[in-house]
Amino acid sequence: MTGPTAGTVPALELDDIQGTVLRRRPDDYHGVYLLYRIDDPAATKRSLREVLPKITSAADWELPRPYTLNVAFTYRGLARLGVPEDSLASFSEEFRAGMAARKEVLGDLGANDPGNWLPPLGGADVHIGVMIIARAPEGLREPVDAAGRLAGVNLVYRLDVGVPVTGREHFGFRDGISSPHLLGSTDAPLPGQDSVQPGEFLFGYPDESGTPPPGPAPEVLGRNGCYLAFRQMHADVAAFRRYLRDNASSPEAEELLAAKFVGRWRSGAPLALAPDHDDPELGADPMRNNDFRYHEDPRGLRVPRGAHIRRANPRDGLTDTVVAVNIHRVLRRGAAYGPPLPDGILEDDGAERGIIFVFLGASLSRQFEFVQQVWLNDGDFAGLGAERDPLIGDNDGTGVHTVPATPVRRRLTGLPRFVTVRGGEYCFLPGLTALKWLTTLPDTAAKPATTPPTSMPESDR
Ligand code: HEM
Repeated sequence: MTGPTAGTVPALELDDIQGTVLRRRPDDYHGVYLLYRIDDPAATKRSLREVLPKITSAADWELPRPYTLNVAFTYRGLARLGVPEDSLASFSEEFRAGMAARKEVLGDLGANDPGNWLPPLGGADVHIGVMIIARAPEGLREPVDAAGRLAGVNLVYRLDVGVPVTGREHFGFRDGISSPHLLGSTDAPLPGQDSVQPGEFLFGYPDESGTPPPGPAPEVLGRNGCYLAFRQMHADVAAFRRYLRDNASSPEAEELLAAKFVGRWRSGAPLALAPDHDDPELGADPMRNNDFRYHEDPRGLRVPRGAHIRRANPRDGLTDTVVAVNIHRVLRRGAAYGPPLPDGILEDDGAERGIIFVFLGASLSRQFEFVQQVWLNDGDFAGLGAERDPLIGDNDGTGVHTVPATPVRRRLTGLPRFVTVRGGEYCFLPGLTALKWLTTLPDTAAKPATTPPTSMPESDR
């Protein structure tokens, strides 16, 4: 599971790595996600050259600054900019196919089917993604105005996002607590934070096998870059509240049930450390709130093996398989969108609300897709048969979540769908030198967006 020790890991080139890969966002913030179609590749490259100095690297993320800005490209976007054919072919097949084409792997069927996604998500018009984050809404004004004046591109989608001061997403849980620590970064790991080789997340560095994974070619394009999957998910908060009320005998029992879905109390306190009662101080304390394992709880009496966080990162809980957990880690950057459903409301108000996630890593298939397909949307790996993630799984009214207890376990049945995919896309988040390289591609080489492969050989799944 472990590669070379920290001492042999090269220092990360912080001033070349886009900041959102390595740096935590503020605890609360406002943000805007913008998606563009490239209409005029030559003008787009001129625009990008102007934007380059404003893109926030991991080296200048911490400075007092009104906003941070990061830029990513879809396969079609890279093709539009004129990335040569052999270089396009060096990207992974799932990236070239795009998220919508991977619907079978991701379980995006039925209500989650790309045919039901919000346009233009999953379509041919998404070429460039821009993420702007500010501590205060005023901080967004200048960069968003500037983004509106970019030449050569057309804004096809805008999503206003944010994390409130409570740090909680719409279902009411504190999010953004657990994350792998990258060896070679300047941060020290927090208690309980696993250190992982940087090549798991960034091209140009050793991964858990001890050698750098093959990245996009030429090297100047791949180095310090990574894949980025963004996924917009609608949250049916009223349905979740109703399910808790209908299946618990008191408000306290509802809170425990909610915690058994996620593996943490809504305050963020982990069930592994606070199995019977919430402990908000623990939930808010980064020195304690992620410092736990599962080996002392093999049956899931504290944290059900099907709970969201135990599925998404089984830590040391997979004793009966040889799966190396560290090769399936993802870096997550999540933010809420849409108005909160007021407390106590149990009927849906029709508002569009949910989470937009950004998942970062060097392998979409081994990381984001694996977690989604094998750990969240199936139960086999944890001896749970066909059970799916109780909160975000592709449940349809017949879902089941087993909550072990003594003397008898509880089987929650009739789980509806609480989360519906609204769309998403696979992008490449280049290093800053690579971004500059992209802006210098000859204009004559710019081609219309080619149709990427739509089906994957079984061996690539
Ligand atoms: C609406 C959708 C989702 C919601 C509301 C949600 C909510 C949460 C919450 C409340 C936590 C606990 C806080 C933390 O440990 O940081 C968490 C952790 C996590 N989630 Fe999700 N999540 C969602 C979707 C996803 C998806 C699609 C994935 C991956 C494909 C994912 C992967 C993870 C991972 C890896 C963790 C950290 C687990 C750990 O290291 O202990 N989540 N999520």
